[in-house]
Amino acid sequence: MDFARLVTPDGQHALAEARQLLGKDRLAAITALRERFDPGLAADALSQAALRERAVAKFGEGAWGMYFTAAGLEQATRPIVAARRAERLGASRNVVDLGCGIGSDLMHLGGTGIERDPDTAKCAELNVPAARVIPGDAQDFDLSTVDTVFCDPARRSGGKRVFNPRDYSPPWDWVVSLPERVPRTVLKLAPGIDQSLLPPGCELELVSVDGDVVEAAAWCGPLARVPRRATVIRKGVAHELAGTGTRRAPVGEPRRYVYDPDGAVVRAHLVAEFASTVDGVLGDPSIAYVYSSIYVENAFSRAFEIDEIMPFSLKRLRAALRARDVGRLEILKRGSAVDVETLRRELKLGGTNAASLMLTRIAGDPVAVILR
Ligand SMILES: C[S@@+](CC[C@H](N)C(=O)[O-])C[C@H]1O[C@@H](n2cnc3c(N)ncnc32)[C@H](O)[C@@H]1O
Repeated sequence: MDFARLVTPDGQHALAEARQLLGKDRLAAITALRERFDPGLAADALSQAALRERAVAKFGEGAWGMYFTAAGLEQATRPIVAARRAERLGASRNVVDLGCGIGSDLMHLGGTGIERDPDTAKCAELNVPAARVIPGDAQDFDLSTVDTVFCDPARRSGGKRVFNPRDYSPPWDWVVSLPERVPRTVLKLAPGIDQSLLPPGCELELVSVDGDVVEAAAWCGPLARVPRRATVIRKGVAHELAGTGTRRAPVGEPRRYVYDPDGAVVRAHLVAEFASTVDGVLGDPSIAYVYSSIYVENAFSRAFEIDEIMPFSLKRLRAALRARDVGRLEILKRGSAVDVETLRRELKLGGTNAASLMLTRIAGDPVAVILR
């Protein structure tokens, strides 16, 4: 994409017109644009306007003034997460973002961004005029005078997500050795990162936004404060739970309430820490549902009152849900092999009430729990 052209007055007009044409089919839109602009600019403006429209979900209305590549948008950190991270890092003399993408983190970090993909680097330069963006390979950057490193390696290759850290770019071995060179290092990682691969002594933070676990971050060297932290952001407000990640929650009989901990709490291995805040126990040592006799309003879980617990049986469950005239059913499961969609079909619900159902195991036995 010719970004240099898009930023000219002609390019800006093309972008504004392309935005107005976004609802139309692509052929009609491109034909209309070509009447006013040359074919290359018309195509770039339409693609960029479409990316901006997609970016609104992540960046809000500000996306209409930003520049994106498709992969750059896909991998960009959500602004609320980037802003919190930069705030925790505080003022830094010389921070470098190794693999800065379109600059979502760089916007909050300031300093220098290195980006290998030339189009994406151009976007970062346009999106973060206050930063210095260097197109090139992060591995070639001289870190000797750097005070703080942020690295968010690409977890995609050829448009597909990669799950093995060894396929990250820059390469994992290099990424994980960064704290040896610059102790104040933060690495952004996939939420499912194999925790045995982390740099020794780091703090692993798991972050969720409105119920979705969006990332993990390893805070290295002097930046580590606790072994594990869950940051749960709901409706724009962040709540933090910290602990060792090795504590075991007590196990006991189910009680009146059940708490379904947020994915960030579960992935940070902080279920025991959470359970102690609600005086709770697990019904099964390997399953992260927490039972308690008390109801405690909190940001780290969803809470339900238990209506009935029964051994799992389709016939019995169907009868119980029909007796409650249930038509709409939310199904939660942990530790159950039941296929939720098949079960939903087999239940053939036709009632007028809504209910929640939990499929799990208690003391090793499969159970269905009807929730209020
Ligand atoms: C996950 S994205 C970064 C997203 C960024 N934190 C943001 O919020 O916009 C990773 C970026 O690293 C870049 N990258 C991958 N390998 C690189 C390397 N060796 N040197 C520099 N950049 C690299 C990719 O092109 C990609 O844009």
